[in-house]
Amino acid sequence: LQTLPPLKLAEKYFQIFPEERDPLWQNPCHDKRHKDIWSKEKTCDRLPKFLVIGPQKTGTTALHSFLTLHPAITSSFSSPVTFEEIQFFNGPNYHNGIDWYMDFFPFPSNVSTDFMFEKSANYFDTEVTPKRAAALVPRAKVIAVLINPADRAYSWYQHQRAHQDPAAINYTFQQVVSVRQSSPNELLVLHNRCLKPGEYATHLENWLQHFQSRQLHIVDGALLRSSPAQVMDGIQRFLGLNPVFNYTQALMFDESKGFWCQRIDGGRPKCLGKSKGRKYPEMTPETRAFLTEYYREHNLELLRLLNRLGHTLPSWLRQELQNSS
Ligand code: A3P
Repeated sequence: LQTLPPLKLAEKYFQIFPEERDPLWQNPCHDKRHKDIWSKEKTCDRLPKFLVIGPQKTGTTALHSFLTLHPAITSSFSSPVTFEEIQFFNGPNYHNGIDWYMDFFPFPSNVSTDFMFEKSANYFDTEVTPKRAAALVPRAKVIAVLINPADRAYSWYQHQRAHQDPAAINYTFQQVVSVRQSSPNELLVLHNRCLKPGEYATHLENWLQHFQSRQLHIVDGALLRSSPAQVMDGIQRFLGLNPVFNYTQALMFDESKGFWCQRIDGGRPKCLGKSKGRKYPEMTPETRAFLTEYYREHNLELLRLLNRLGHTLPSWLRQELQNSS
């Protein structure tokens, strides 16, 4: 029997099995063989019970802040690199391994009653994420927030303008949505970032390849904005949280912000920062009509998917399909 020093052996191994170069982390405690060699110093309890997957610009930060008010819910720690989001399953952080990921979570004081979660809003539309998430946290629940994809696209465009993205500064939203193949690359990139995440049914089907439909909860983002307490009650039922936290008391509407905020001591509101709930001109009717048409098939797919799952339809979806029929 021949062997090699560890590095050489690894090189040889990946020459023979190149498809295994990309790891797929599983929960070491779900397989006895892995658990037996897993350090006694370590735990498998520092993992989320649920994920808020996005997509971006649908109200995920508001949802994150409302969730953390609940006494039984604990968020992951903030990432020093990506601000509040860990962004583990979707990109290069995945290669940092599961110890790196677990370090973002505290040791739960009670494994059965503590609900730890993380929110990374680009999990929703990155193709590799559901497979990786299902390998590590197969029993996790998954929450997605959907608003009218046309509004989501416009909000992303405004977000990029606020961050001085030259493409968003130099081109109108109408130019961004109606590109041609021959358009400059920076414009095509922005076009995709604006529009692709809003093809909701495609991304949700990808999640449903790896998670059961009862693990998935879809939040109507328009309702989250107008009646957050109602949405939070639905989420509490979905997660099976007991006792139920009273969001009607915990939240208040702030007239000057124009959004629901946390009610803090003295009955004052504590709202999200300026980058959430930005003020910008309305989308032009021309661009809205273009996007209604662009998303027609995708929204019809979403309608079929939600009917299949027996989920209530968001009011914006009914409205949008009426507009495009
Ligand atoms: P705009 O800034 O375009 O209005 P995300 O946190 O996923 O990036 O989403 C940001 C969007 O959340 C904001 O987009 C805003 O419309 C929406 N939102 C919903 N409820 C909110 C709240 N209570 N406070 C601030 N923004 C909220």
